[in-house]
Amino acid sequence: MISRRKFIQAGLILAALPKQMALASGRLFGNHFQVPKLELGQRVGKQVSFDLTVQAGHSAILPNQLTPTLGVNQSFLGVTLRANKGDSVHIKVKNSLDKTTTLHWHGMKLPATADGGPHQSIHPNNTWLSEFDIIQDASTLWYHSHQLHETAEQVYHGLAGLFIIDDDKAKGLNLPIEYGVDDLPVIIQDKDFKQNGAFAYITSMRDRMMGKKGQTVLVNGVINPILKAKKSLLRLRILNASNAKTYHLSFDDHRPFHIIGSDGGLLEQSQTTHELRLSPAERVEIVVDVADGKTPILRHKPNHNQAQGGGMMRMMGSMMGDDKQMNLLQIDAHQAVKSNRNIPKNLVKHDNPKPSEVVKERKMILAMKMGPMMMFGGNPFSINGKAMDINRIDEVIKAGSTEIWTIENHSMMPHPFHIHDVQFKIIARRGGVKGHELGFKDVVYVRPSETVKVVMKFPKFSDAKIPYMYHCHILEHEDRGMMGQFTVV
Ligand code: C2O
Ligand code: CU
Ligand code: CU
Repeated sequence: MISRRKFIQAGLILAALPKQMALASGRLFGNHFQVPKLELGQRVGKQVSFDLTVQAGHSAILPNQLTPTLGVNQSFLGVTLRANKGDSVHIKVKNSLDKTTTLHWHGMKLPATADGGPHQSIHPNNTWLSEFDIIQDASTLWYHSHQLHETAEQVYHGLAGLFIIDDDKAKGLNLPIEYGVDDLPVIIQDKDFKQNGAFAYITSMRDRMMGKKGQTVLVNGVINPILKAKKSLLRLRILNASNAKTYHLSFDDHRPFHIIGSDGGLLEQSQTTHELRLSPAERVEIVVDVADGKTPILRHKPNHNQAQGGGMMRMMGSMMGDDKQMNLLQIDAHQAVKSNRNIPKNLVKHDNPKPSEVVKERKMILAMKMGPMMMFGGNPFSINGKAMDINRIDEVIKAGSTEIWTIENHSMMPHPFHIHDVQFKIIARRGGVKGHELGFKDVVYVRPSETVKVVMKFPKFSDAKIPYMYHCHILEHEDRGMMGQFTVV
């Protein structure tokens, strides 16, 4: 991560102000934008080997304090893995923690044994080998811990990183693609801290119910970083790696930007907008033009028309101050040189799942029980009336088949619903489908009492025993029951 000395310099300035004020006001952009280290693996032709270690460390996030963190090949967050469509990857994951963990390749189409879900736990000092062929198009995927009942805490402490896939079609588009220069990861996580600098995970009943949200937002592990733009066109690969918070992203000067990609890769056509919503686990790729040499701030500005929840939840949320405006990142474009890249209107052609090939429809009802269970443990969250049971297979799907899933939210708060092993298209939702939701998705935000329909073609991998997961990606909900298992046969 950042050199300690630079951090302390920034820290001294911050330390002159009361800590909470400096952090909350978000006006001080002085920290350096950090780019997670790029890991291309060892390549022999199309065989690529990655050597990963899940590790614990300490990171300088706050002024003059060290925070105990988790990371992959670095002390906080994971290195960025990057490979090509058509590669065969061999990923060795060593667990150097004193607790069991997993690494799940979120968004990847792959055999169940390679998925890294709760069935592929890695015990302390053990190594797990995940091997699969990359069969999908250029996209911004990610990886994170998926340890049963402990995902939330492990991801909160830093077990999350990007997995970028490239392909020839995408490379042919002349989009910004130089990692760390004009192709930039933006991993967002919100945190709370204890007096001693440690992360403050779950501290209240509200955290348990709504999921853990924090008052301080980090971008690539840094508070309020400033990104010195080298080029006038910047591609931001934004990942919401937060446990529970949904962001409404826009620039403080209302400048337009172009959405080019969603969870599952490039859109068919770039979409110009001023703002977008990004719920936990969603990714979006945007290109922003900073040729004006200005200093725009990317921020979260709550959009109350898009209601975080139903009336009561929203009221509670704003009473608790968990949906105030937050600044994320400032771009300083003074030194940006003219880019020779562009933003084509037409990007790629999608091979859409065909409604005529749908062989099966399923319904997923998301619900939460209020009352004592919510407070004192147990699994108050459910899908189709059942809380997650690792010994129960909920759905059996035919390999290579096309299905429609109808996801109904019967609770008072939104749930970002995720399915492993596939990329789907949203075919019906309240208010219509627009922006990045036009693309391939592996997470869909489902508002209170909303019904969303998605269509997808499952890959051909089959395994009668080892299941994949579908679940709410508010990690506290996932950990406490809002998850189910399916096999593909
Ligand atoms: Cu992002 Cu089941 O995971
Ligand atoms: Cu996943
Ligand atoms: Cu949820």
